[in-house]
Amino acid sequence: MHPSSLTTTPAFQALASHYPEAREWHMRTLFSQDVDRFDRFSVEAAGLLLDYSKNRLNATTVQLLLQLAHERGVEERRDAMFAGEKINVTEHRAVLHTALRMPRNSILMVDGQNVIQEVHAVLDHIQAFTDRVRSGAWTGHTGKPITDIVNIGIGGSDLGPEMVCRALRSFIHPRLTMHFVANVDGHDLDAVLAKLNPETTLFIVASKTFTTRETMLNAQSAREWFLARAGEAALPKHFVAVSTNTKAVRDFGIDPENMFPFWDWVGGRYSVWSAIGLPVALAIGFDAFAEFLGGGHAMDQHFRTAPLERNMPVLLAMTGIWYRNFFGSTSLSIAPYHQDLSQFPAYLQQLEMESNGKCVTIDGVAVDYSTCPVVWGDVGTNGQHAYFQLLHQGTTMVPVDFIAALKPAHDLPGHHTVLLANCFAQSEAFMRGKTADEVRAEMRAQQIDEAEIDVLIPHRTFPGNHPSNTILMDTLAPATLGALIALYEHKVFVQGVVWSVNSFDQWGVELGKVLAKTIETELIGNAHPKAHDSSTNALIARAREALGR
Ligand code: F6P
Repeated sequence: MHPSSLTTTPAFQALASHYPEAREWHMRTLFSQDVDRFDRFSVEAAGLLLDYSKNRLNATTVQLLLQLAHERGVEERRDAMFAGEKINVTEHRAVLHTALRMPRNSILMVDGQNVIQEVHAVLDHIQAFTDRVRSGAWTGHTGKPITDIVNIGIGGSDLGPEMVCRALRSFIHPRLTMHFVANVDGHDLDAVLAKLNPETTLFIVASKTFTTRETMLNAQSAREWFLARAGEAALPKHFVAVSTNTKAVRDFGIDPENMFPFWDWVGGRYSVWSAIGLPVALAIGFDAFAEFLGGGHAMDQHFRTAPLERNMPVLLAMTGIWYRNFFGSTSLSIAPYHQDLSQFPAYLQQLEMESNGKCVTIDGVAVDYSTCPVVWGDVGTNGQHAYFQLLHQGTTMVPVDFIAALKPAHDLPGHHTVLLANCFAQSEAFMRGKTADEVRAEMRAQQIDEAEIDVLIPHRTFPGNHPSNTILMDTLAPATLGALIALYEHKVFVQGVVWSVNSFDQWGVELGKVLAKTIETELIGNAHPKAHDSSTNALIARAREALGR
């Protein structure tokens, strides 16, 4: 087992002694002293290149970080996860999203069952169904092919499929329009329903538990909308479910024949590879979905077998540990320089923050160190014109992950060159900064007056030394996207092991759910509730007034 505190491990202590020296280095100097820095600090795997050379580290730092990973048992925990051990100890579950992307001929026994056989049986069902919908053989109740697919789900039952469908937009069947409804705010569903023809719409009700309040209410409302226009007999052609809960699916009125199951060993935020990926398979076709799974599997193989010093998820994770636990950085910004990855930061927010946003160790002991940073971001170049100012000249160090594809999926001349130039320029600017001498020389060349130069120098100087990683792929395609998602899944896993938290539960979301249930009845009940604090009581009273209670 791990020592209960990260901070007492030998490698952590060695890093703590190394940190005061490392904090003083400027990356400009590190690059000028070592012409091979990129070669030394970059790695390629599964169609991705990770350049981590623009980080505040040297070979000793990396060696100590990897020693820390090793001391915390990363290899041992990784092997336990892949072997199907019940590493999600608070829910007594195995963690096997990796099994969802394993080839058909593999064998992985869990509780006496070869789960790979079950996985491929569901994949076969998905293939048969998606082929029919895409070819037009599956029709709506009036005989017309499906044109609109509405996924109703939230959290992991929404973010993954929505992000992937957006990312692979250029692969979507031309007849199909994908819609995603997650929010219980009726404005979400209302706006989507307004665009739909019930004759040609397929609803997917996606919920691991099939009890999530938001999803169930949205699904009920969609069902009522549909029944009012098409009648009960038409329902089986237009409603399918993805869930682990067959009984609840049946109770909802969906034939289990039209249900695509998955298993409790698939966490919600790791479920896009399972039947939760049904909208993806419908949108891009089963063959492309299989390529997506293949990309994830290629990254799994790399993570499983590459030595720590060439292991991409481990290196990505450990640079994050360096900033979070030694430099004290509080957030991580994700900057995809690809419009089709616009949902990727939101996807990673759930993946990273729901997994590692924990304050007790897996043994239930309060941590005395920081865990997951706040993850946020937006596409480049948009972010440059909004919040990058703070990243360049603010008072907080925010490490950035840049993500880009070398080739675009469009043929508009010029755009991609400008995009990539900006991406590379930003990471260079973060690293180099701009000295007072450089500012002075530049302004003198523009013949600006010396007094004005003295006034402006502090404002136009950039400290630089801001760390970033850059992840490049050839094109954003099913396989590279699969590898990218799996890269971050394993990064999160490694960080969870180092922090000794359970990355696979999410008890923290329960309290609000329970309180919301009570308040929901109080908002519409007869008696005015007084049991809350004065703030909550007053807010409920305002809402009751507005609702005419
Ligand atoms: O409340 C959090 C959560 O449980 C997530 O972990 C999950 O992805 C989401 O809700 C949706 O859950 P379900 O798929 O069971 O509806």
